[in-house]
Amino acid sequence: MLQRTLSIIKPDAVSRNLAGDILAMIQAAGLTVKATKMIQLTRAQAEAFYAVHKERPFYGSLCDFMTSGPVVVSALEGENAIQAYRDLMGATNPANAAEGTIRKRFALDVEKNAVHGSDAPETAAQEIPFFFSALEIVG
Ligand code: TYD
Repeated sequence: MLQRTLSIIKPDAVSRNLAGDILAMIQAAGLTVKATKMIQLTRAQAEAFYAVHKERPFYGSLCDFMTSGPVVVSALEGENAIQAYRDLMGATNPANAAEGTIRKRFALDVEKNAVHGSDAPETAAQEIPFFFSALEIVG
């Protein structure tokens, strides 16, 4: 099934100049980049994006981190893109991430974990328009 998913290369990875390496891993895994841009999230945008986690103890720190520097957001497309990208990302905590995953290679800890990917079709359907207008997404 052809799907789209939303990727964020987080501030820890962008600041270490890893965005190119991560996009190369995404493309090598067979996912196509349909849109991409670098932005710096405002506090309000980060809080809105992670609203599902607002009762969690890490929410404030996560929003601080996500606004600490630029991120690279991308809309990815491919067969079962949501799960395919989750598999490529690896476990949330890099200590548990499998060899060959983005988080195993690049994540620093459970918060500074290099990448975000949508976790379900409904999430992707909200997250892609959060960052991209229809005009910005190639065919
Ligand atoms: P979550 O949705 O559980 O993980 P994933 O990014 O793999 O879908 O959590 C969202 C983000 O919240 C996670 O990428 C980093 C942050 N986070 C923490 O900072 N501390 C934690 O203990 C957890 C579980 C998540």
